[in-house]
Amino acid sequence: MCGIVGYAGPQHPEPTTRPLDVALQGLARLEYRGYDSAGVATLEGERVQVTKRAGKLQNLREVLGENPVTAGAVAIGHTRWATHGAPTDGNAHPHHGGYDGELALVHNGIIENFAALRAELERDGYTFTSDTDSEAAAHLVAREMQRTGDLTAAMRAATARLEGAFTLLAIHRDAPGTVVAARRNSPLVVGLGEGENFLGSDVAAFVDATQEALEIDQDQVVTVTADAVTVTDAEGQEITDPRRYAIDWDARAAQKGGYASFMAKEIHEQASAVADTLRGRIEGGTLQLDDMSVDESVLRSIDKIVVIACGTAAHAGSVAKYAIEHWCRIPTEVELAHEFRYRDPVVTEKTLVVAISQSGETMDTLMAVRHAREQGAKVVALCNTRGSSIPRESDAALYLHVGPEIAVASTKAYLGQIIASYLLGLYLAQVRGNLFADEIAALMEDLEQIPAQIQQVLDRADEVEQLARAMRDATSVLFLGRHVGYPTAMEGALKLKEIAYIHAEGFAAGELKHGPIALVEEGQPVFVIVPSPHGRESLHAKVVSTIQEVRARGAKTLVIAEEGDEDVVPYSDVVLRVPRTRTLFAPLLTVIPLQIFACELATVKGLDVDQPRNLAKSVTVE
Ligand code: M6R
Repeated sequence: MCGIVGYAGPQHPEPTTRPLDVALQGLARLEYRGYDSAGVATLEGERVQVTKRAGKLQNLREVLGENPVTAGAVAIGHTRWATHGAPTDGNAHPHHGGYDGELALVHNGIIENFAALRAELERDGYTFTSDTDSEAAAHLVAREMQRTGDLTAAMRAATARLEGAFTLLAIHRDAPGTVVAARRNSPLVVGLGEGENFLGSDVAAFVDATQEALEIDQDQVVTVTADAVTVTDAEGQEITDPRRYAIDWDARAAQKGGYASFMAKEIHEQASAVADTLRGRIEGGTLQLDDMSVDESVLRSIDKIVVIACGTAAHAGSVAKYAIEHWCRIPTEVELAHEFRYRDPVVTEKTLVVAISQSGETMDTLMAVRHAREQGAKVVALCNTRGSSIPRESDAALYLHVGPEIAVASTKAYLGQIIASYLLGLYLAQVRGNLFADEIAALMEDLEQIPAQIQQVLDRADEVEQLARAMRDATSVLFLGRHVGYPTAMEGALKLKEIAYIHAEGFAAGELKHGPIALVEEGQPVFVIVPSPHGRESLHAKVVSTIQEVRARGAKTLVIAEEGDEDVVPYSDVVLRVPRTRTLFAPLLTVIPLQIFACELATVKGLDVDQPRNLAKSVTVE
């Protein structure tokens, strides 16, 4: 949570707009990480100037005016998702540190020992003006600066005292032209420019200014000026070869491109996003996962797979379970990452843990990855964000390549996660000899049809949007599915809850009679995801019976079914069609009408689709 941006450029003879431009543009692209308040700090001669406001970035822009200038060469900025202290102006970042407010600091994460530090600093005469944990870090760095006279050394000494998770960025009156940053369990990347350098929670902060980035490891301190970036470790030793990488995200991907919301844009990008996930995976007739660095002999020896993830990524994991068990015959469990870690799971060197995360920064998933590795398990990460913590701390990574996902509600990354799980499943089946080469080739051939089929579903978005508009006053919607339709039902319900604030629940259709059917009364909208009639016949027949059962009790049945499936027609109030594909691949198509439905319903209700209340895109606290 919280987005952080930093800039160090050349000193201009006259006041310049560049540092504040970079900070504000960076914050605009990071606002998806939290939008309770926003603020910036600059150096104006001898004065550290902090401007901050509760609420969205727009409030800050209004205070700063049209083209805000600074006399200095540096800026830091922050967009907040509140943890300690209400979302007020005073609790917004940056925070001043020092007796004269000679330092400004922004923080992402949680400082667990802040209360003790605050008491200590108050005894030393430092004045606190907020309820945040972050202000203790600001005074601590300022006190160390007073002692050492070196902002890098001050940051290092201060972070040695901190417990918890943090990314910190600081500027100081006595270090003009310099931004110093540090990280532990919280994201930070450096953007390398020409005559200017950047810092960000992720590359979106500076993607329009440079395509070259540096990864910063745990407990490293980075000192950034216009001409130099110096990375040091916790002992102050310089890291001479920090990992550089090229940013493959296009700045245009972080713009709405004519759509009403990022979510709408990302839904409509799904055909090309999935094509990008699939691109280049088959070579010489066999599946190549070049980012797969776990030894094949290890993959042959595993006897259990545990998929760990949260939210939408966990739904992708539930789809993965059906495919991996079917193709590889390896027992596969799916577990919410936060539950996995605290229940003493049975994990051995023969367990393969698959961590799924769009951001690669979800703290619950990261902690579960660490826990699994401590038990000797190998971890494969399925992630979208290069350079993020989860792939870096895993044994192997398979990237989604769906481009930046900005809307809080995950859509295209969900499809990318499912495809990546299929690729992993097929790769395991290939390495372990569970499937013949021609079987894998046939499955891949069908997967390659999926982008065109996704486009067919998107081409019918109008029908779903009309339905959503007609249902704008709905107060509760149920979603039912069986087999891979079950995670799709869960995902449809999650989308509606998180952006349209409508009570929604997803159930396994077979579970209906064991309780949930009591919820069904006259007019209750129920989405039913129907499997292909060309797959297992009994599965299809059971779901058609479910439609009849809820309809008999007055439900309004909204049915997602394959083209040509006429069995559903007599029992459906509305039928939304998807093209025919294998049962296991259907989740890539059937979820799309549910995404469109939630997006349109939230839009007609006048809600902020991309930044729903109380949420942040990337949950970097436990
Ligand atoms: O970045 P991650 O994939 O690890 O995020 C996991 C969840 O927080 C995320 O999928 C969340 O549930 C989305 N807001 C759902 O749309």
